Amino acid sequence: LPFFQQPAKNSLSYDMNNSSICVNLGSRSYPIVIGRNTLSHDLARHPLIAKSKGRIFVIADPKVRRHAAPVIRALKKRTSGIVWLKGGERSKQISTLNSLYKAAARARLDRHSLVVAMGGGVIGDIAGVFAATYLRGLSIVHLPTTVMAQVDSSIGGKTGINLLEGKNLVGVFHQPALVYIDAETLKTLPDREFKSGLAEVIKYGVISDPELFERLEKNLSKILFRDPAELAWIIRRCCAIKARVVSRDEHETKGLRAILNFGHTIGHGIEAAARYHLLHGEAIAIGMMGATYLSQKLTKLSSISVQRIGRLIQNTGLPFQLDKKLSTREILAAMKLDKKVSQGEIRFVLATRIGQVKTGLGVSERLIREALDFLRK
Ligand SMILES: NC(=O)c1ccc[n+]([C@@H]2O[C@H](COP(=O)([O-])OP(=O)(O)OC[C@H]3O[C@@H](n4cnc5c(N)ncnc54)[C@H](O)[C@@H]3O)[C@@H](O)[C@H]2O)c1
Ligand SMILES: [Zn+2]
Repeated sequence: LPFFQQPAKNSLSYDMNNSSICVNLGSRSYPIVIGRNTLSHDLARHPLIAKSKGRIFVIADPKVRRHAAPVIRALKKRTSGIVWLKGGERSKQISTLNSLYKAAARARLDRHSLVVAMGGGVIGDIAGVFAATYLRGLSIVHLPTTVMAQVDSSIGGKTGINLLEGKNLVGVFHQPALVYIDAETLKTLPDREFKSGLAEVIKYGVISDPELFERLEKNLSKILFRDPAELAWIIRRCCAIKARVVSRDEHETKGLRAILNFGHTIGHGIEAAARYHLLHGEAIAIGMMGATYLSQKLTKLSSISVQRIGRLIQNTGLPFQLDKKLSTREILAAMKLDKKVSQGEIRFVLATRIGQVKTGLGVSERLIREALDFLRK
């Protein structure tokens, strides 16, 4: 079976002091700036914004109006349109995209126009499809305001909308010009959303960063209290991992980027079968429990590591069991529609230890069913 073996953990180096992280993609490279309370004054002065001559088209979630107001004020002279778009998975559909195209036409955007997307992963994903396609492509700046968006969805250029048949089935790669993170915006995030984002943070620990995983275990209560310094450390660490992975395997063709799908094979199946009643991170948390079970069977993950992963997910307050109402048949059907299916076979990312995974692993349907049964216990 083809799989990608990661380099040993010590070959990773993180620069935790430098204020911005770079996604290295040649002429399409871009910085991820992480600050606190810096959004309005610093963003408008950032060279990428200050030097661009185009008009600005803002797409923002009304729930972040309070954080968006100073940004909009700072960019006011250059803004040619503001669209308020509700967050939540239901917004990620073609009709929303259509309304954005119409608003853009009314605002008379041209090819120099800059899209500024402010909100969670939903806003970022739709704004991304919009920016990639309107006038054959406009530059986009992401101002992510959820944990999910700050550590994951705003980085890497994946955009997408859902169909009734499945999640993220329509989309393109479109890298942003800048990602600007203000951890202060997380203060207003509802607890359930906050924890959902932490599922991806746990994922980063499992796939490539034992030190991050340990820090989560040790400082969990501080994190759950949203201690600013602790959050800044974690966000930076996750962004560094994602930037490194994306820089080396932008289009998920070399096997590396696939490591980010840990917990997502079963997770996406659960998310779709639950008809989006579970948040993305919640479904992923259950999916990671399933992947951990399979890892113990297939990639020799030690029982101590299995316990640590399970405990961290539970202590975070994330769901770790499958609702009895969700049938194996439905989850399997949704998994088979997912993009991670290759030549008819469902592919898994499994852990060998905390901080290391193998990708592209085929798992028999019998074992997948067994894992789903385990998740109901
Ligand atoms: N493109 C990618 O690479 C990628 C990666 C991971 C996830 N995603 C996608 O991201 C989406 C999930 O992202 P999400 O969890 O950010 O969802 P979301 O955008 O729906 O935000 C979650 C909720 O929080 C609200 N909100 C956002 N910021 C807030 C703030 N600062 N204060 C108060 N409320 C706030 C929103 O209105 C929404 O109700 C999914 O659709 C998933 O597929 C994409
Ligand atoms: Zn995810």
